[in-house]
Amino acid sequence: MEHKERSHRSYEWGMEMNHEPKILVVDDDPMNLMVLEATLKQLGYGVLTASTGKEGIEKAQQEKPSIILLDVMLPDISGFQVCEAVKAQRALANTPVVMVTALGDRESRLKGLEAGADEYLVKPIDRVELTLRLKNLLKVKAYNEYLEGMRNILEAEVAKRTQELQRAYEKLDEAYLEIIHRLGRAAEFRDDETGAHIQRMSHYCRILAREIGLPPEKQKEIFYASPMHDVGKIGIPDGILLKRGPLSPEEFEIMKKHTIIGAKILSGSEHPVLKMAETLALTHHERWDGSGYPHNLKGKEIPLEGRICSLADFFDACTSPRAYRPAIKIEEVLGIIKEAKGKHFDPLVVKAFFKALEEILATKEKYTDASEGERRTEKLPPR
Ligand SMILES: [Fe+2]
Repeated sequence: MEHKERSHRSYEWGMEMNHEPKILVVDDDPMNLMVLEATLKQLGYGVLTASTGKEGIEKAQQEKPSIILLDVMLPDISGFQVCEAVKAQRALANTPVVMVTALGDRESRLKGLEAGADEYLVKPIDRVELTLRLKNLLKVKAYNEYLEGMRNILEAEVAKRTQELQRAYEKLDEAYLEIIHRLGRAAEFRDDETGAHIQRMSHYCRILAREIGLPPEKQKEIFYASPMHDVGKIGIPDGILLKRGPLSPEEFEIMKKHTIIGAKILSGSEHPVLKMAETLALTHHERWDGSGYPHNLKGKEIPLEGRICSLADFFDACTSPRAYRPAIKIEEVLGIIKEAKGKHFDPLVVKAFFKALEEILATKEKYTDASEGERRTEKLPPR
């Protein structure tokens, strides 16, 4: 009775090879096929056969054999071409290929190796040599598969950790931006302006930045930075900040300091939003013609963000009611802005303002002071 010479159930590098290794034999000679099939079965291997190169490639793709024994001389395509085709496929690239031929010459061996063959056997096949070669190739294959499995596990783990890190970063960034936003609200609380003012300011600034053509990243930064433009009001005494009616020249000098105080509060950060907030705090009262404060900057000496914030702040202040005056009519405010083009305001920003006027007015309607109670619990707008 035929018996298998050895069992292929073994443990290799922690992997259990509990399946019978399948050897695909590709040979056009029926006698060779029969002899090899019988020998391999006796050695305990499962055997698949193919008698042409194309059939060999098809069976390799379908059956994923453990090893391919490949005759060089085939009726359709050469064994070298079959070997190349097999090695070119990702799923089969690790499948060992043994070229089997009657040609023992150096050129054929080199050609076989060039085609990616792993081993070379010369007919007539020595049974002991065949046994040892197959055993070694199976070990190498199991080792390669183990390494590939480990690499896949590691890659999946790295991808998972990267995703977790990304989520943690996003959460941190959200919390950071929310704190910045709430700092802006805190600064506004003592004033008669409401939280809706900084909501509108954010949107006006972003609309203007977009209309001027600033990149999306800058639009985002100005959106989050603009609520802090008046954070320096924290340092202004109540008697001046909350005074009903016009300020005396001395009081106004103190009031002007909210720009410098705000910039000091926000200075020294590496975060782009806080850096921009510092710029806005310092420059939002500068004027295009140099008549603003605190440094009487003129024209393009004033950072563009500051020029944007200046117009947005002015428009919102004029169109919002104050304890000492009602809101100024839109038409009147638009007239003032037109008149102040090239004087108080940068002509470029004024142009952008009128181009986006419809959207600005819609934003004004959406974020009204009356709805402030609701807005205090509103989530931050999407970034
Ligand atoms: Fe201000």
